[in-house]
Amino acid sequence: MTDSLLALLKHYGQTQLWQFADQLTPERRDNLRQQIEAIDFPQLTNLVAGNDKAVDWHAVAAAASPPPAVRLGQPDTHYSISDARQAGVQALRDGQVAMLLVAGGQGTRLGFDLPKGMFPIGPVSGRSLFQMLCDRLSAMSRRYGADIPLYIMTSPATDAATRDYFAKEDRCGLNADQLHFFCQGQMPAVDSANGHVLLAAKDEVALSPDGHGGIVAALKKSGSLDDARQRGVKLFYYAQIDNPLAELCDPALIGYHLLAHSELTTQVVRKRFAKEKVGNVVSIDGKVQIIEYSDLPDDIAQQTTPDGDLRLWAGNIAIHVFDLAFLEKVANQADSGLPFHRASKKVPHVDDQGQLVSPTEPNATKFERFVFDLLPMANNALVVESDAARVFAPVKNADGAAVDTPELAKAAILKLHRNWLEAAGARIDEGVRVEIHPGWALDELEVQEKIHGDLHLTTDTFLM
Ligand code: UTP
Repeated sequence: MTDSLLALLKHYGQTQLWQFADQLTPERRDNLRQQIEAIDFPQLTNLVAGNDKAVDWHAVAAAASPPPAVRLGQPDTHYSISDARQAGVQALRDGQVAMLLVAGGQGTRLGFDLPKGMFPIGPVSGRSLFQMLCDRLSAMSRRYGADIPLYIMTSPATDAATRDYFAKEDRCGLNADQLHFFCQGQMPAVDSANGHVLLAAKDEVALSPDGHGGIVAALKKSGSLDDARQRGVKLFYYAQIDNPLAELCDPALIGYHLLAHSELTTQVVRKRFAKEKVGNVVSIDGKVQIIEYSDLPDDIAQQTTPDGDLRLWAGNIAIHVFDLAFLEKVANQADSGLPFHRASKKVPHVDDQGQLVSPTEPNATKFERFVFDLLPMANNALVVESDAARVFAPVKNADGAAVDTPELAKAAILKLHRNWLEAAGARIDEGVRVEIHPGWALDELEVQEKIHGDLHLTTDTFLM
């Protein structure tokens, strides 16, 4: 057994992985062997050699034009919003929609030890990100008379703690049959200098989740695609755990997707300025795709229309609707179809002397798949604009950073809910913080029905 493992490592120039094996107990050695055997060495060798990275972003960006889109505040061109809503509502009532939530990331920027979904974000309630999103799903399920199944993607970094959390919190109010977990794969980190796979400890490969794009392979491997098909699901509504304002299962977005016979519809927001740090959703040779902000040359980012608006205006907020059949098609392609991206990171590891090293500069390359690489593979991909103030409050960085912090996300939630209440005639004293539970009201229309203009709030309130 060990001989064939050593031959394999020799063949791929990775014998450093076994260098401390004789210092390990049989059990720990076996653990290391299993981790090594799970590595796809031919794939990794190809990635390290850079054989996959032939993209000339300047040329790509030069060919980019605005994507086909349903824009806010512009007359409906093909489909009216009421037709879209009706089609979406029908799909929800018929139980054709399931929710996909990705929660496998390590959340390193936030600096929170537990899975990011457990982070308390409710500005008054203190509810966690998981709880907030599940509350919305429960309210939507009640409104449309059909339980919306939730498939949560974890990773080995978050799986056990996430499952424990849901068990302790009564599945955040969801029914047992509604909630599924599936775990994504991992990729080894390699030394940027020589392509050697790093060891996190003498008996442990330095592994990290393989990116949110790992969802395609993980959905298939876990049997979740089959499970969804058996339930009669036709569409997945995709969102990330770190956006508490994500308007899960928005009927209009689902409806546009259905009316346009799209395989992938993506909700976007208008970029506030040319180099905003969001992916740019564009069209190239008739295919919708994303150019990351770091890859978009300044001169192209700054181009404007005759009205003075940004020509490449659409910012990615990672909310998508996928056809189940489309994901099945991609999952059945060799290697799950999605390319890998590389990132330079600081990865702690043991050196050749067995000493733990904590680098202060990026020392390693990590490989990740991104879910948005599905866009150019989809037929009739469609872009639908929404208002960032309604649907986007990313929780990425720890408080104190300039953008995307919990504090800013909480402020965005409070502002939206205050706006809904005041538009319905409620009075809220200055400085008073009000948060709305989706079971009380899911949107501004429901707020209007609830209060009939006779509400005056003088202290912080959680309306539930
Ligand atoms: P990010 O790319 O922002 O990463 O993930 P992150 O792990 O949350 O945070 P950093 O970069 O380490 O600070 C966006 C969404 O994709 C999920 C995350 O859980 C988050 O919902 N994700 C990311 C995965 O599910 N798996 C991954 O491998 C990466």
